[in-house]
Amino acid sequence: MSGNFSSLVNEEGSRVSRRLFADEAVFEAELEQVFGKSWLFLGHESQVPRPGDFFRTRMGDESIILIRGNDGEVRAFLNSCRHRGLPICRQDKGNAKAFVCPYHAWTYASDGSLRGVPRQSQSYPDGLDKSKLGLVPVAHMANHRGLIFGSFDPDIIPLEDYLGDMAWYLDCHLARAPGGTEVLGLQRWEIDCNWKMPAENQIGDVCHGPFSHVSLFEAAGGIDQPAVTSVVDNGVNVAVPNGHGCVVAGMNEPERELGLGDPSASEAISGHFDKYKAYRVEHLGALREHLDLPTATVFPNFSILGRNSTIRVAHPISATRTEMWSWILVDKAADPEAKEAFRKQYQVTFGPGGMLESDDGENWSGVMYGARGSQSRKQDYVYEMGMGSDGPHAELPGSVGHTFSEHTQRGYYRRWRELMSEAVI
Ligand SMILES: [Fe+2]
Repeated sequence: MSGNFSSLVNEEGSRVSRRLFADEAVFEAELEQVFGKSWLFLGHESQVPRPGDFFRTRMGDESIILIRGNDGEVRAFLNSCRHRGLPICRQDKGNAKAFVCPYHAWTYASDGSLRGVPRQSQSYPDGLDKSKLGLVPVAHMANHRGLIFGSFDPDIIPLEDYLGDMAWYLDCHLARAPGGTEVLGLQRWEIDCNWKMPAENQIGDVCHGPFSHVSLFEAAGGIDQPAVTSVVDNGVNVAVPNGHGCVVAGMNEPERELGLGDPSASEAISGHFDKYKAYRVEHLGALREHLDLPTATVFPNFSILGRNSTIRVAHPISATRTEMWSWILVDKAADPEAKEAFRKQYQVTFGPGGMLESDDGENWSGVMYGARGSQSRKQDYVYEMGMGSDGPHAELPGSVGHTFSEHTQRGYYRRWRELMSEAVI
């Protein structure tokens, strides 16, 4: 078979080949074309507050060291010794003055420079130019309100241009209290599904909620409770250029809806929002003061679930295996009771033991099984819900439509198609 990978998605993004969800040839091309040419989330700046603090993270299939240097600058490098390629950082996080390769002890400083090679004068009598053998840096780094992104693409557009109007929405959450946000912890787990499933679910798949999550909603007080209707009936889906999208709630509800979670946490959370209402009006404006983001995805694999106090990345392992990384995200200025309440809200709903997460994971695996069969994989998946129903909005940027519409997913797969058009099958 020859042709172009872009033929796997139609022009509208409304028909998507099942090969996108289980085919290793597609997956291999994505590592270069999608992960090699996008801005990818590396971590939160609160994870590396002091010089020498490091966090072992990922970009696509690569292991990456995120580290704050002695000069205060945060840098990222391939976690790979220049001599034989071994990972030089084996710990998840910590503070280090240097990284020593376990094989031949090549030693690197926190700025990535190669500082030590054992018996250098004896082993390299003609000299060794260590200045050319530092760790390979990630081509570009940028920070949006504490979220650190990196890109392998030397020609990538600036992060703020890449995010575009998505930043307007992200800031509803990231800039709602003085000092922004911080993360309290990270959970990781693997799941049998393609990495795009979490991304396309969290970009605006409200329409599965009343059905997939009905058992939780009933257990928490019924399908008609405000935590549900504020999103399903009164929220909107927004598609933003470059493949991003989100679900926005609170348009017509000046009283902030807190979402599902531990009921005992509600008082502390509503007190937190009351305390910083004037701050939000001043810094975000009267409309965004009460807007929130139940779910959002920054192309290709970073998501934020605002009402569940989490940011997450769906890291690709193979076409049918994904590693989820899920951080608890809170407002830095929140008092200890509010931070604890946000933590409980997260634990009840998301993370590997969360009631919403477990429903979603089962669905994502099911999608992958449907894409793997020798006959079923010849079919397309259908993303035609709400075709033509979205468009400009008087107050909200992007293309706005109702929540039972797949225009955010269509935008996502159009972006995928654009990037994959240069790869050949
Ligand atoms: Fe869900």
